[in-house]
Amino acid sequence: MLVCGLWGNQLSRARVGVLLSGRGSNFLALAEACRRGEVPAEIVLVISNRPEAPGLGKAQELGIPAVAIPSKGLPREEHEGLLLAALRKAQVDWVCLAGYMRLLSPSFVAAFPNRILNIHPALLPAFPGLDAQKQAWEYGVKVSGCTVHLVDAGCDSGPIVVQRVVAVRDDDTAETLAARILEQEHIAYPQALRLLLTRPWRIEGRRVVFALGA
Ligand code: GAR
Repeated sequence: MLVCGLWGNQLSRARVGVLLSGRGSNFLALAEACRRGEVPAEIVLVISNRPEAPGLGKAQELGIPAVAIPSKGLPREEHEGLLLAALRKAQVDWVCLAGYMRLLSPSFVAAFPNRILNIHPALLPAFPGLDAQKQAWEYGVKVSGCTVHLVDAGCDSGPIVVQRVVAVRDDDTAETLAARILEQEHIAYPQALRLLLTRPWRIEGRRVVFALGA
């Protein structure tokens, strides 16, 4: 399958909606890269499915519209309908998942075809799902890292845009490894969004391919 994903060199800044569930450090890394002009995008809305998520407060401090749309007790379809309505109202072009701890349904993914990005704290396809850093540490891998990928209907399974590698040290704990991976996440996420917004690209099979010399 060849999906043409030409988007590059656009004149206006892309409008990005961020979905998160917790701390929000990847959201902050994206927001700062946009503010510095390194990524031609503007975060126009932050949504958390958990009202207590610290990421919401961080967005408000930056003056970025931030709302809680609680998922608890709601059927997935109904919750995602509320998310979609908010994202459409904000005229979002791209959705960035930044520690959003819920699987998206195929119909949500289809609403933003190849326009949803996720960051995962492991070198996919190894260690998908929850607690990826701990999974990798317990397995005994010598390198791990992070992956930014386009979201498809699977779990952490979409085409890969950027990966960054982190060496595992003998004296690492799952926590020290996670901290070094997080530093790389904060580089990888803006890097991936910048690439997708500034370079012509397409999807060949599972591969995200950027035009040479562009
Ligand atoms: C990050 O490590 C991110 O990669 C991970 O959650 C953390 C969120 O931190 N996401 C996943 O595990 C998704 N499968 P943050 O709220 O500080 O950005």
